[in-house]
Amino acid sequence: MQTRNLMTDRAGIEAAAALITDEQLVALPTETVYGLAGDARSGIAVARIFEAKGRPSFNPLIVHVPDTDVARRYAVWSDAADRLAAAFWPGPLTLVLPLKEECGLSPLVTAGQDSVALRVPAHAAAQALLRASGAPLAAPSANPSGRISPTHADHVRLGLDGRIAAILDGGSCGVGVESTIIGLTGAPTLLRPGGLPAEIIEAALGGSLAIPEPGGAITAPGQLSSHYAPAVPVRLEAETIEEGELLLGFAGTPGAALDLSASGDLVEAAANLFAHLHALDARGAKAIAVAPVPDTGLGRAINDRLRRAAAPR
Ligand code: TXA
Ligand code: MG
Repeated sequence: MQTRNLMTDRAGIEAAAALITDEQLVALPTETVYGLAGDARSGIAVARIFEAKGRPSFNPLIVHVPDTDVARRYAVWSDAADRLAAAFWPGPLTLVLPLKEECGLSPLVTAGQDSVALRVPAHAAAQALLRASGAPLAAPSANPSGRISPTHADHVRLGLDGRIAAILDGGSCGVGVESTIIGLTGAPTLLRPGGLPAEIIEAALGGSLAIPEPGGAITAPGQLSSHYAPAVPVRLEAETIEEGELLLGFAGTPGAALDLSASGDLVEAAANLFAHLHALDARGAKAIAVAPVPDTGLGRAINDRLRRAAAPR
């Protein structure tokens, strides 16, 4: 199949919406990373997502909707959901809620579970496609399963060219790491650190988030430990460079091939993370060494992605 390149103007959005209606896949920009979108009500479209990514099908997908009213069609709502949705939607936050029965979503999208992950993206092109298609959009990151997430249309083409119908080119993604996932099927739980810092969510809830036990029952099933991986090995907490390595620095690390943020700004570092990993990977080093990054605010999401990139495969 030939993968079309679409602009985010009106003609591009209409062409993308027609492909969604036809149960095809479209990569679309969001404020976090590019998503690989298909109609979440269509088993065929959702199966195509798993096939294009080479993703294990037990792994449930996030369903994107245009606003909170539409989200309520698919989930059993609660006070905590109301509070977080009012504070942070549209934005880089995903809520896992009890699935509403007979709501019309394909059971493939929730991997047969009785919960559903919902997100209202802020990106104008994502909003435009949601409204033009009228479909809830299942959209995992638009990369082959286990590889580095895409923050640019070129990254999507590199990984999925010929496997999907179209790419909506919206330039670079502003946040640069995936959404924060909060479980609300029980006590509010941080299932995945991401683009919205956990501290800000705790302030809005007026209490701490639970953290799932590693290997415990309440985890986000997609959180396999090796993930976001470049082709070459990754070494963390690097203070010095070893033979054949390229160094990814932070806050002006001497000898760095690229720096996540020369001024030590974690927002800038998150926005650069995947693009810099893509760039270093393409330079064909023996390994990528990464300087330490502080573990607060967005640094938690950055370190989570780096640990998975470095995990044994
Ligand atoms: O920023 C993002 O969230 C991006 C953009 C495209 O919106 N999307 C994204 O989707 O990261 P994906 O499919 O790569 O991540 C989905 C993760 C799953 O791996 C799983 O951990 C969690 O969401 N998830 C989905 N449904 C769930 C459920 N019912 N219960 C628990 N976790 C769930
Ligand atoms: Mg992903």
